[in-house]
Amino acid sequence: MATIFTPQAEKEFFTPFGPMMGFFRMPGQFVDQMNSAMNRELEDHSGQLVGKVREELRFDKPLVDLAAAALGQTLIEYHVRASRRGAFGNYDHRSKQFELNIAGGWFVRQYAGDYNPLHIHTGAALSCVGYLKLPDGIEAEWEEDYRDHHPSHGHLQFAHGTDSHYSVSNFMIKPRVGDFYIFPSYMFHCVYPFRSEGERRSFSMNLSVLER
Ligand SMILES: [Fe+2]
Repeated sequence: MATIFTPQAEKEFFTPFGPMMGFFRMPGQFVDQMNSAMNRELEDHSGQLVGKVREELRFDKPLVDLAAAALGQTLIEYHVRASRRGAFGNYDHRSKQFELNIAGGWFVRQYAGDYNPLHIHTGAALSCVGYLKLPDGIEAEWEEDYRDHHPSHGHLQFAHGTDSHYSVSNFMIKPRVGDFYIFPSYMFHCVYPFRSEGERRSFSMNLSVLER
């Protein structure tokens, strides 16, 4: 059913079309806990993923539970806000109960020259990415890259639809340790290579929010 818009103010500028993104600053303690998981034996998942990167390590159950505890509330809030936006007020989250269903999670360990080609995620409605570590020299590399007209080293780029007047079709993210982004799983995205020595470490999850 088409949603019906009712103006709420004297003047409004709004973006009713297109996907919603979410952002959250992860607690430092959670970032440390995720990083310490590198000492554990985790299954290399890279055979099933598109990334041209050194390692993609699948979360075990304790890691899924840890991520759910730290990020679950924000992921559910994304679902509620995106659902409310699409319903223009005709969605009462207070009458519902929400449950997180994490289909899987994995660490991405990316080194100089590694990259992640344009792709989408399948098997769940929502995806996310969190940044855990960056190479020591990346700031100096970025300083140089940002003198270029189109900086992108080690950045994550999303693309949606076709570029048009008064519309936005792509969105670039500069990684920062502790930053966490939420996006619909069908959003095309890619990660560009960088040159600095050292590791760029992130994690991703595919999940759905179930309503009861
Ligand atoms: Fe991805």
